[in-house]
Amino acid sequence: MAIDLAVVPVAGRGTRLLPLTKSQPKEMLPVGRRPVVQYVVEELARCGIKRILFVTGPGKTAIENHFDIDVELINHLRETGKEEFLAELAFEREDVEYFYVRQRRQLGLGHAVLCSRAFVDGDCFVVALGDSILGLNERSRIVEVMVERFKASEAAAVIAFEEVAPEDVAEYGIALPRDKDAEVFILDDLVEKPDPSQAPSNLAVAGRYVFSPVIFEALAETPPGKNGEIQLTDAIRRLIRAGRKVLGIRLPPGERRFDIGHFESYFRAVVEFAVADPQFGAALRQRLGIKSC
Ligand code: UTP
Repeated sequence: MAIDLAVVPVAGRGTRLLPLTKSQPKEMLPVGRRPVVQYVVEELARCGIKRILFVTGPGKTAIENHFDIDVELINHLRETGKEEFLAELAFEREDVEYFYVRQRRQLGLGHAVLCSRAFVDGDCFVVALGDSILGLNERSRIVEVMVERFKASEAAAVIAFEEVAPEDVAEYGIALPRDKDAEVFILDDLVEKPDPSQAPSNLAVAGRYVFSPVIFEALAETPPGKNGEIQLTDAIRRLIRAGRKVLGIRLPPGERRFDIGHFESYFRAVVEFAVADPQFGAALRQRLGIKSC
Protein backbone atom coordinates (compact mmCIF):
# COMPACT_ATOMS: atom_id res chain seq x y z
CA MET A 1 0.00 0.00 0.00
CA ALA A 2 1.74 3.15 -1.21
CA ILE A 3 0.62 6.41 0.36
CA ASP A 4 1.22 9.08 -2.24
CA LEU A 5 -1.57 11.57 -1.48
CA ALA A 6 -1.38 14.57 0.85
CA VAL A 7 -4.24 16.90 1.73
CA VAL A 8 -2.97 20.41 2.48
CA PRO A 9 -5.61 22.65 4.09
CA VAL A 10 -4.99 26.30 3.21
CA ALA A 11 -8.50 27.74 3.50
CA GLY A 12 -8.25 29.31 6.97
CA ARG A 13 -8.75 33.05 7.37
CA GLY A 14 -5.54 33.64 9.33
CA THR A 15 -7.23 36.23 11.53
CA ARG A 16 -4.44 36.11 14.11
CA LEU A 17 -2.08 37.58 11.51
CA LEU A 18 -4.23 40.54 10.47
CA PRO A 19 -3.60 42.92 8.77
CA LEU A 20 -0.91 40.83 6.98
CA THR A 21 -3.52 38.34 5.87
CA LYS A 22 -6.27 40.73 4.82
CA SER A 23 -5.60 40.26 1.12
CA GLN A 24 -2.90 37.58 1.00
CA PRO A 25 -2.94 34.00 2.27
CA LYS A 26 -0.87 33.37 5.39
CA GLU A 27 0.43 30.28 3.58
CA MET A 28 2.08 32.64 1.06
CA LEU A 29 3.88 34.79 3.62
CA PRO A 30 7.63 34.94 3.06
CA VAL A 31 9.97 33.03 5.34
CA GLY A 32 13.58 33.12 4.17
CA ARG A 33 13.52 32.86 0.40
CA ARG A 34 10.23 31.05 -0.07
CA PRO A 35 6.57 31.39 0.77
CA VAL A 36 5.52 29.09 3.62
CA VAL A 37 3.51 26.64 1.53
CA GLN A 38 6.43 26.02 -0.86
CA TYR A 39 8.42 24.54 2.04
CA VAL A 40 5.44 22.30 2.81
CA VAL A 41 5.16 21.07 -0.78
CA GLU A 42 8.92 20.46 -1.13
CA GLU A 43 8.95 18.53 2.15
CA LEU A 44 6.06 16.34 0.96
CA ALA A 45 7.65 15.71 -2.44
CA ARG A 46 10.87 14.65 -0.70
CA CYS A 47 8.87 12.20 1.41
CA GLY A 48 7.38 10.40 -1.60
CA ILE A 49 4.10 12.29 -2.02
CA LYS A 50 3.00 12.45 -5.67
CA ARG A 51 -0.47 14.03 -5.39
CA ILE A 52 -1.30 17.13 -3.39
CA LEU A 53 -4.88 18.22 -2.81
CA PHE A 54 -5.11 21.79 -1.55
CA VAL A 55 -8.28 22.61 0.36
CA THR A 56 -8.64 26.26 -0.61
CA GLY A 57 -11.04 29.08 0.10
CA PRO A 58 -11.65 32.76 -0.59
CA GLY A 59 -8.59 34.85 -1.39
CA LYS A 60 -6.25 31.89 -1.90
CA THR A 61 -5.67 31.94 -5.66
CA ALA A 62 -2.07 33.13 -5.13
CA ILE A 63 -1.34 29.57 -3.95
CA GLU A 64 -2.69 28.05 -7.16
CA ASN A 65 -0.72 30.56 -9.24
CA HIS A 66 2.46 29.82 -7.32
CA PHE A 67 2.49 26.15 -8.31
CA ASP A 68 1.62 26.73 -11.98
CA ILE A 69 4.36 26.36 -14.57
CA ASP A 70 4.88 29.95 -15.68
CA VAL A 71 6.15 29.62 -19.25
CA GLU A 72 5.93 33.37 -19.83
CA LEU A 73 8.18 34.09 -16.85
CA ILE A 74 10.64 31.40 -17.93
CA ASN A 75 10.81 32.89 -21.45
CA HIS A 76 11.20 36.37 -20.02
CA LEU A 77 14.16 35.29 -17.90
CA ARG A 78 15.78 33.62 -20.92
CA GLU A 79 15.15 36.55 -23.27
CA THR A 80 16.48 39.12 -20.82
CA GLY A 81 19.66 37.23 -19.94
CA LYS A 82 18.53 36.43 -16.42
CA GLU A 83 19.06 32.66 -16.69
CA GLU A 84 20.57 32.55 -13.20
CA PHE A 85 17.05 32.97 -11.77
CA LEU A 86 15.68 29.92 -13.59
CA ALA A 87 16.99 27.71 -10.78
CA GLU A 88 14.61 29.53 -8.41
CA LEU A 89 11.69 28.12 -10.42
CA ALA A 90 12.87 24.50 -10.22
CA PHE A 91 10.12 23.78 -7.66
CA GLU A 92 7.57 24.19 -10.48
CA ARG A 93 8.93 20.91 -11.90
CA GLU A 94 8.48 18.85 -8.72
CA ASP A 95 7.22 15.36 -9.58
CA VAL A 96 3.84 16.17 -8.03
CA GLU A 97 0.32 16.64 -9.40
CA TYR A 98 -1.81 19.39 -7.86
CA PHE A 99 -5.53 19.28 -7.21
CA TYR A 100 -7.84 21.79 -5.57
CA VAL A 101 -11.11 21.57 -3.69
CA ARG A 102 -12.95 24.53 -2.14
CA GLN A 103 -13.97 24.69 1.48
CA ARG A 104 -17.05 26.78 0.88
CA ARG A 105 -17.39 27.89 4.49
CA GLN A 106 -14.49 28.15 6.91
CA LEU A 107 -15.80 25.73 9.51
CA GLY A 108 -12.47 24.67 10.94
CA LEU A 109 -9.57 22.34 10.18
CA GLY A 110 -11.65 19.18 10.68
CA HIS A 111 -14.21 20.45 8.22
CA ALA A 112 -11.44 21.33 5.73
CA VAL A 113 -10.17 17.74 5.90
CA LEU A 114 -13.74 16.46 5.48
CA CYS A 115 -13.96 18.48 2.23
CA SER A 116 -11.32 16.14 0.77
CA ARG A 117 -13.40 12.99 1.33
CA ALA A 118 -14.71 12.46 -2.21
CA PHE A 119 -11.25 13.02 -3.69
CA VAL A 120 -9.46 10.75 -1.21
CA ASP A 121 -11.98 8.04 -2.07
CA GLY A 122 -11.07 5.40 0.50
CA ASP A 123 -7.26 5.78 0.36
CA CYS A 124 -4.93 6.30 3.31
CA PHE A 125 -3.49 9.79 3.15
CA VAL A 126 -1.27 12.44 4.73
CA VAL A 127 -2.51 15.76 6.08
CA ALA A 128 0.07 18.57 6.20
CA LEU A 129 -0.96 22.00 7.46
CA GLY A 130 -0.19 24.62 4.86
CA ASP A 131 0.88 27.13 7.52
CA SER A 132 3.51 24.97 9.25
CA ILE A 133 7.12 24.46 8.18
CA LEU A 134 9.05 21.52 9.62
CA GLY A 135 12.80 21.84 10.03
CA LEU A 136 15.03 24.61 8.77
CA ASN A 137 15.49 24.67 5.00
CA GLU A 138 13.52 21.61 3.90
CA ARG A 139 15.36 18.93 5.78
CA SER A 140 12.45 17.16 7.46
CA ARG A 141 11.74 13.56 6.54
CA ILE A 142 9.20 12.97 9.28
CA VAL A 143 6.31 12.28 6.89
CA GLU A 144 8.26 9.43 5.30
CA VAL A 145 8.95 7.96 8.76
CA MET A 146 5.29 8.39 9.75
CA VAL A 147 4.09 6.60 6.61
CA GLU A 148 6.45 3.68 7.34
CA ARG A 149 5.16 3.46 10.93
CA PHE A 150 1.59 3.70 9.72
CA LYS A 151 2.04 0.82 7.27
CA ALA A 152 3.84 -1.36 9.82
CA SER A 153 1.36 -0.79 12.66
CA GLU A 154 -2.11 -0.87 11.08
CA ALA A 155 -2.91 2.23 13.10
CA ALA A 156 -5.89 4.42 12.21
CA ALA A 157 -3.69 7.49 12.51
CA VAL A 158 -0.09 8.51 13.10
CA ILE A 159 0.48 12.05 14.35
CA ALA A 160 3.73 14.05 14.65
CA PHE A 161 4.42 15.80 17.96
CA GLU A 162 6.90 18.44 19.01
CA GLU A 163 8.08 19.07 22.55
CA VAL A 164 7.17 22.67 23.42
CA ALA A 165 7.89 24.90 26.41
CA PRO A 166 5.37 24.28 29.24
CA GLU A 167 3.92 27.79 28.86
CA ASP A 168 3.20 27.16 25.13
CA VAL A 169 0.91 24.14 25.62
CA ALA A 170 -2.16 26.41 25.73
CA GLU A 171 -1.68 27.09 21.97
CA TYR A 172 -1.89 23.49 20.71
CA GLY A 173 -3.44 20.02 20.84
CA ILE A 174 -1.45 18.21 23.53
CA ALA A 175 -0.80 14.45 23.76
CA LEU A 176 -1.52 12.10 26.61
CA PRO A 177 1.09 9.50 25.65
CA ARG A 178 0.95 6.00 27.16
CA ASP A 179 4.75 6.01 27.42
CA LYS A 180 6.00 9.54 28.06
CA ASP A 181 9.61 8.84 27.07
CA ALA A 182 9.11 6.75 23.94
CA GLU A 183 9.92 8.12 20.51
CA VAL A 184 6.79 6.42 19.13
CA PHE A 185 3.90 6.03 21.54
CA ILE A 186 0.25 5.04 21.75
CA LEU A 187 -1.86 8.12 22.10
CA ASP A 188 -4.35 7.72 24.96
CA ASP A 189 -5.88 11.17 24.52
CA LEU A 190 -5.42 14.50 22.84
CA VAL A 191 -6.36 17.63 24.75
CA GLU A 192 -6.99 20.85 22.83
CA LYS A 193 -5.24 23.94 24.24
CA PRO A 194 -5.04 22.83 27.88
CA ASP A 195 -4.23 25.14 30.76
CA PRO A 196 -0.48 24.62 31.40
CA SER A 197 -1.24 23.41 34.94
CA GLN A 198 -3.56 20.67 33.60
CA ALA A 199 -1.60 19.63 30.47
CA PRO A 200 -1.05 15.87 30.15
CA SER A 201 2.43 16.45 28.61
CA ASN A 202 4.29 19.10 26.66
CA LEU A 203 4.00 17.21 23.36
CA ALA A 204 2.16 19.43 20.88
CA VAL A 205 0.62 18.37 17.58
CA ALA A 206 3.13 19.37 14.90
CA GLY A 207 0.90 19.79 11.84
CA ARG A 208 1.57 16.43 10.11
CA TYR A 209 -0.77 13.42 10.22
CA VAL A 210 -1.27 10.11 8.40
CA PHE A 211 -4.85 8.85 8.37
CA SER A 212 -6.78 5.83 7.29
CA PRO A 213 -10.15 6.75 5.76
CA VAL A 214 -11.92 5.99 9.08
CA ILE A 215 -11.07 9.57 10.02
CA PHE A 216 -13.86 10.71 7.67
CA GLU A 217 -16.45 8.71 9.62
CA ALA A 218 -15.18 10.28 12.83
CA LEU A 219 -15.22 13.77 11.29
CA ALA A 220 -18.74 13.29 9.91
CA GLU A 221 -19.93 12.38 13.43
CA THR A 222 -18.06 15.23 15.14
CA PRO A 223 -20.40 18.05 16.15
CA PRO A 224 -19.21 21.64 15.71
CA GLY A 225 -17.39 22.91 18.80
CA LYS A 226 -16.08 26.36 19.66
CA ASN A 227 -17.04 29.05 17.06
CA GLY A 228 -19.09 26.44 15.18
CA GLU A 229 -15.87 24.81 13.92
CA ILE A 230 -15.35 21.08 13.42
CA GLN A 231 -12.07 20.27 15.14
CA LEU A 232 -9.73 17.62 13.79
CA THR A 233 -8.64 17.00 17.39
CA ASP A 234 -12.20 16.04 18.36
CA ALA A 235 -12.38 13.51 15.52
CA ILE A 236 -9.04 11.99 16.56
CA ARG A 237 -10.36 11.66 20.13
CA ARG A 238 -13.36 9.83 18.71
CA LEU A 239 -11.05 7.34 17.03
CA ILE A 240 -9.21 6.77 20.32
CA ARG A 241 -12.46 6.33 22.25
CA ALA A 242 -13.75 3.88 19.66
CA GLY A 243 -10.69 1.74 20.48
CA ARG A 244 -8.74 2.53 17.30
CA LYS A 245 -4.98 2.58 17.53
CA VAL A 246 -3.58 6.10 17.19
CA LEU A 247 0.19 6.55 17.33
CA GLY A 248 2.22 9.61 18.18
CA ILE A 249 5.75 10.14 16.94
CA ARG A 250 8.17 12.76 18.17
CA LEU A 251 10.00 15.04 15.78
CA PRO A 252 13.68 14.03 15.81
CA PRO A 253 15.97 16.02 18.15
CA GLY A 254 16.81 19.41 16.70
CA GLU A 255 13.90 19.35 14.25
CA ARG A 256 11.33 22.04 14.88
CA ARG A 257 7.91 23.05 13.74
CA PHE A 258 7.56 26.65 12.63
CA ASP A 259 3.90 27.56 13.10
CA ILE A 260 3.08 30.53 10.91
CA GLY A 261 -0.32 30.95 12.56
CA HIS A 262 0.53 33.78 14.96
CA PHE A 263 3.00 36.63 15.12
CA GLU A 264 5.35 35.33 17.81
CA SER A 265 6.15 32.10 16.00
CA TYR A 266 6.03 33.77 12.58
CA PHE A 267 8.67 36.30 13.67
CA ARG A 268 10.77 33.49 15.12
CA ALA A 269 10.63 31.66 11.78
CA VAL A 270 11.51 34.81 9.80
CA VAL A 271 14.57 35.48 11.97
CA GLU A 272 15.79 31.86 12.11
CA PHE A 273 15.51 31.34 8.36
CA ALA A 274 17.17 34.71 7.65
CA VAL A 275 20.19 34.05 9.87
CA ALA A 276 20.52 30.54 8.37
CA ASP A 277 20.55 31.87 4.81
CA PRO A 278 23.58 30.41 3.01
CA GLN A 279 24.41 33.71 1.29
CA PHE A 280 23.46 36.45 3.74
CA GLY A 281 23.09 34.59 7.04
CA ALA A 282 26.69 34.96 8.25
CA ALA A 283 26.73 38.75 7.80
CA LEU A 284 23.31 39.04 9.44
CA ARG A 285 24.40 36.94 12.42
CA GLN A 286 27.43 39.17 12.83
CA ARG A 287 25.32 42.32 12.63
CA LEU A 288 22.85 40.97 15.18
CA GLY A 289 25.59 39.63 17.44
CA ILE A 290 24.44 36.00 17.06
CA LYS A 291 27.32 33.50 17.33
CA SER A 292 25.97 30.58 15.26
CA CYS A 293 22.71 28.92 14.34
P1 UTP B 1 -5.59 27.50 11.92
O1 UTP B 1 -6.06 26.52 12.87
O2 UTP B 1 -4.42 28.35 12.30
O3 UTP B 1 -6.85 28.39 11.49
O4 UTP B 1 -5.25 26.76 10.57
P2 UTP B 1 -7.06 29.78 10.79
O5 UTP B 1 -8.54 29.90 10.69
O6 UTP B 1 -6.31 29.92 9.49
O7 UTP B 1 -6.39 30.82 11.80
P3 UTP B 1 -7.00 32.00 12.67
O8 UTP B 1 -7.47 31.37 13.94
O9 UTP B 1 -8.10 32.67 11.86
O10 UTP B 1 -5.82 32.91 12.88
C1 UTP B 1 -4.36 25.67 10.41
C2 UTP B 1 -4.37 25.31 8.92
O11 UTP B 1 -5.68 24.83 8.57
C3 UTP B 1 -6.25 25.62 7.52
C4 UTP B 1 -5.47 26.93 7.55
O12 UTP B 1 -5.45 27.53 6.26
C5 UTP B 1 -4.09 26.51 8.03
O13 UTP B 1 -3.24 26.15 6.95
N1 UTP B 1 -7.71 25.80 7.77
C6 UTP B 1 -8.16 26.26 8.98
C7 UTP B 1 -8.60 25.52 6.76
O14 UTP B 1 -8.19 25.09 5.65
N2 UTP B 1 -9.93 25.73 6.97
C8 UTP B 1 -10.42 26.20 8.15
O15 UTP B 1 -11.66 26.36 8.28
C9 UTP B 1 -9.50 26.47 9.18
